Amino acid sequence: MSSALLTSTPIAVIGAGAMGAGIAQVAASAGHPVKLLDNRPGAAAQAVQGIAAQLNRLAEKGKLTVQAAQDTSARLSTAAQLSDLADCGLIIEAIVEDLQAKRKLFLDLEAIVSKDCILASNTSSISITAIGAVLAHPGRLAGLHFFNPAPLMALVEIVSGLGTERQIAERLFASASAWGKTPVHTRSTPGFIVNRVARPYYAEALRLLQEGAADPVTMDACMREAGGFRMGPFELMDLIGHDVNYSVTRSVWNAFFNDQRFLPSLIQQELVDAGFLGRKNGRGFYDYREGAAAPTPKTEPQSPALAALKTARMVICGESAAAQALSSRLQSAGFTLTSGPSPDGRIAEVSGAVVYVTDGRTATRRAASQAEKNVVLIDLALDYSKAKRLAVSVADQCAADAASAAIAIFQAAGYAISRFTDVPGLAVMRTVAMLANEAADAVNQGVCDVPSVDAAMRLGVNYPAGPLAWADQIGLARVREVLGHLADSYGEDRYRISPLIQQRAYAGKGFHV
Ligand code: NAI
Repeated sequence: MSSALLTSTPIAVIGAGAMGAGIAQVAASAGHPVKLLDNRPGAAAQAVQGIAAQLNRLAEKGKLTVQAAQDTSARLSTAAQLSDLADCGLIIEAIVEDLQAKRKLFLDLEAIVSKDCILASNTSSISITAIGAVLAHPGRLAGLHFFNPAPLMALVEIVSGLGTERQIAERLFASASAWGKTPVHTRSTPGFIVNRVARPYYAEALRLLQEGAADPVTMDACMREAGGFRMGPFELMDLIGHDVNYSVTRSVWNAFFNDQRFLPSLIQQELVDAGFLGRKNGRGFYDYREGAAAPTPKTEPQSPALAALKTARMVICGESAAAQALSSRLQSAGFTLTSGPSPDGRIAEVSGAVVYVTDGRTATRRAASQAEKNVVLIDLALDYSKAKRLAVSVADQCAADAASAAIAIFQAAGYAISRFTDVPGLAVMRTVAMLANEAADAVNQGVCDVPSVDAAMRLGVNYPAGPLAWADQIGLARVREVLGHLADSYGEDRYRISPLIQQRAYAGKGFHV
């Protein structure tokens, strides 16, 4: 195990933009003398002032002592030229995202720094292997990928290119830990961990929108209120900016030789073509212009069957998380229930309707395959006992009063219901299954290990659970089934099941057990 850099080791950050300034603040707060350099005149000095102002604000809020803020500011300085960085033990580059510019910078640095100096790039999309290829000593170059804003986001991806020496990656790992971050190791593959594994969060939402499953505001509400995600995919894409998100999607898709898994969406292309870039220019999926009305999610009106529910026979079937939560929520609302078996995964029966959690088939297909017309499906929830909303779909064969009764029991249990068209896998289940699929492939392909991918997605993009831990909670056999049904429904390579999910599911094991 390599140890962290001593705090007396001078560090340089080149590129004093949003990321460079944040990284400089992190390193200086950890005790290192930090030099900031930028080729735009005045930019480094401006960044140093900005960091000092930020530290003062933190001190005013009581999150930092005044002394600590002053000491940290005093450790920051500007450098005018690369030769001023000769004494640094670590140089982190956060300049423009361009391979040639980064190669030239590191080549120039190699002629200046000592042989022990570690070189690191904050690139989010360029191959570390490719940057390192031109260096005399590629072994000392690694990716040190912070997330924005660097002082607040805990995750740092430590990216090893083909030429990176293990001990360099270990040293950066130990140093990032010492700075209070949570580092994860990853190999230099397209998107590293987070920008690869997060693709389905956007891609499945766009696909559902294209298929008319529900509108953006309704899907966002389901992803937040059932999935437990901090932001729904559409509002998040609006925040990131469609130009940025579309370009990352295209670059990951290209880098994987146009693998269908990462296929960009026409919807996103059209938003970019229209110049509807999201929050930053007032229009994306949502309208942010002054005076625009905020849309509200589509919620089913109170079911006409609700009144008759007190006297209806409601059977809660089996002991799945969904059934247990439904049962306790209904009991708290004063309903009397009957318990029944769940031979086929059903969670409830009421007035001839049979309710299941989606297994990736449409309700219509499920109804046809089991000769039971009145099939109603609910979506996955992170925690059914706390979820506020559920997406629901109804088989085309289902009688209207059976559908009403099924919706009524969920309304009686306190869930807001958003009725989707009958799409395979609904929203949360389909997205989580595909996130887990991608995470499993990243592990299977040696990009990272299981704890790293889960930590990366929790800390890099604030997911409420790591995708593989979440897959364990759902049950891997169920996740495999959902993916298999999506693959049958679409006949596309996009939904192929990760060999690692197959393997663990056949072995009867999860990822964390
Ligand atoms: P930015 O545009 O805010 O800042 C880049 C800075 O580098 C500018 O001040 C520019 O004058 C300076 N610069 C450009 N070429 C230079 C050179 N050859 N020598 C010295 N200074 C130079 O960009 P930002 O957003 O801070 O990104 C920087 C790097 O961090 C990029 O590689 C980007 O992909 C990566 N990154 C960005 C994230 C983000 O959310 N913005 C997140 C993680 C990584």
